[in-house]
Amino acid sequence: MTTPSSDQYAVMGNPIAHSQSPRIHAVFAARTGQHLEYRALLVELGGFAAAAKAFRASGGKGLNVTVPFKQDAWVFADVLSARAERAGAVNTLSFGPAGVRGDNTDGPGLVRDLKINHGFSLAGKRLLLLGAGGAARGVLQPLLLEKPAQLVIANRTANKALELTLRFSDLGLVSGCGFAELAGRSFDLILNATAAGLNDAIPPLPEGVLAADGWCYDLMYGRKPTAFVRWGREQGAAQALDGLGMLVEQAAESFYLWRGVWPETQPVIEALRNGHTL
Ligand code: ATR
Repeated sequence: MTTPSSDQYAVMGNPIAHSQSPRIHAVFAARTGQHLEYRALLVELGGFAAAAKAFRASGGKGLNVTVPFKQDAWVFADVLSARAERAGAVNTLSFGPAGVRGDNTDGPGLVRDLKINHGFSLAGKRLLLLGAGGAARGVLQPLLLEKPAQLVIANRTANKALELTLRFSDLGLVSGCGFAELAGRSFDLILNATAAGLNDAIPPLPEGVLAADGWCYDLMYGRKPTAFVRWGREQGAAQALDGLGMLVEQAAESFYLWRGVWPETQPVIEALRNGHTL
């Protein structure tokens, strides 16, 4: 077997063809002078552990993991960071002599985008998180560590929001409910972590749920403004942001975990935003 000349990384998912991660990591590597190769690998459903094992055996140094394998990666890891442990999901695996380390950089990526790129301080704010699936779980701990005044999780299936509340309640003032129970309440920042956007829809939200000068943030992004970003604009949000910044920041967090170097993210976000080839 020939040894690869540079360190090997990949993102595994299904589907994976539209992943921006190979381009983002190639730019990070070029700009920081790191020698690595990063590929997108389509993995069959049910085949994550075998694929990750084979990648590691062939000399791979680390993996990003996306839908639908983040829970499989959580099981696959030998050691978990505290935030990944809580999230129940792993998006970054690092292969070292001591074993497989699992981490979740989605939440830190979101918080970095809000705080550093957009200057939004979460401390003392009233936060509303829509959704109680994997995407919501992945961001809860990093959000709560910023010490918001309160965090409400609202979900179509209210019970799932309540379950999540129990899992994170030691980290701050968290409560859970269904969408109808939001009537009469308002929030400084509403984060959309539901999958409704896949159908260009948004959850049913009552009038006035976004405070005056409130912000909206969709964890998803697309070439066109997402349904939730459009809703935020209609509500007069001070900012209605999509998840492109989070995507690049979570990649930067993974890059740092693997290489110990922080890549510059702003030019990459701008280039992707403007539809340029990286
Ligand atoms: P992900 O990993 O993207 O979070 P998931 O774990 O399947 O995917 O979770 C999807 C989330 O989007 C859930 O909170 C789901 O609500 P339910 O728990 O009630 O299923 C939410 N969701 C999906 N479609 C939705 C819609 N049309 N309106 C509101 N919420 C929706």
